[in-house]
Amino acid sequence: MNNGASIGIFDSGYGGLTILSEIRALMPEYNYIYLGDNARTPYGTRSFDVVYRYTLENVKKLFSMGCSLVILACNTASAKALRTIQQNDLPRIAPDKRVLGVIRPTTEIAGTLTKNGHIGLFGTEGTIDSMSYNIEIAKMFPDVKVTGQACPMWVPIIENGEADSDGADYFVKEYCSTLIAKDPQIDTVILACTHYPLLKDKIQRYLPSGISVVSQGPIVAKSLKNYLTKHTDIECQIEKGGVCTFYTTESTQKFIKNASIFLNTEIIAQTIN
Ligand code: DGL
Repeated sequence: MNNGASIGIFDSGYGGLTILSEIRALMPEYNYIYLGDNARTPYGTRSFDVVYRYTLENVKKLFSMGCSLVILACNTASAKALRTIQQNDLPRIAPDKRVLGVIRPTTEIAGTLTKNGHIGLFGTEGTIDSMSYNIEIAKMFPDVKVTGQACPMWVPIIENGEADSDGADYFVKEYCSTLIAKDPQIDTVILACTHYPLLKDKIQRYLPSGISVVSQGPIVAKSLKNYLTKHTDIECQIEKGGVCTFYTTESTQKFIKNASIFLNTEIIAQTIN
């Protein structure tokens, strides 16, 4: 029996659309609500407190719109807000609902992605400074060396629809060279920001050949599928209508234009406060 609930997908802006696409490709049957907090993006340079507060507001909004499960399709929010929301807020505000992030599914398999045990990580300042990936990967794969590189210019470039521009090349080249200078043995690079798959071709081009560049979308989608198989109490609440609705905290027109870059398709979106 379902109660007409949806799966909520939240990101600070457009990045979560790269996760949503993969989730919908694997599980098209469910209803989804996407919420992009475009009015307050980027989150990557903001403090713990601010990211936590914004994320909690968005999670509550998605709950009030009928989501019984919310995916924080944002590494920054997963690094800075997820644990507090799960441990402190959920038991109080919505004990029957669930919030999951994107870091855990990625770190769980990180050690299987590298052949030589040297992983590079591109993320926002918030994600890299939190050391969440290093800490989680060390628990599961203590022999793997993880080297992070913050890329503060990439999200603004992507949010402004400039990912394919020549101007983007400069900053892609810069962060790629800096990462490899820190550990020349890196054989695998994880894109630990949901926006970055839009720069994947350029990133691959500016890294030494042979390095495997990994996007999180397929990893998160597979992990969510496993989760729903194991948690039938949550799964049975979700409506299977195959419908996806989009909300943004910014202008609808801008969202529709930029979202089409991520999704390769036209969508309808609504603005919420
Ligand atoms: N897409 C988000 C992430 O995965 C961050 C973007 C931002 O800085 O707002 O970290």
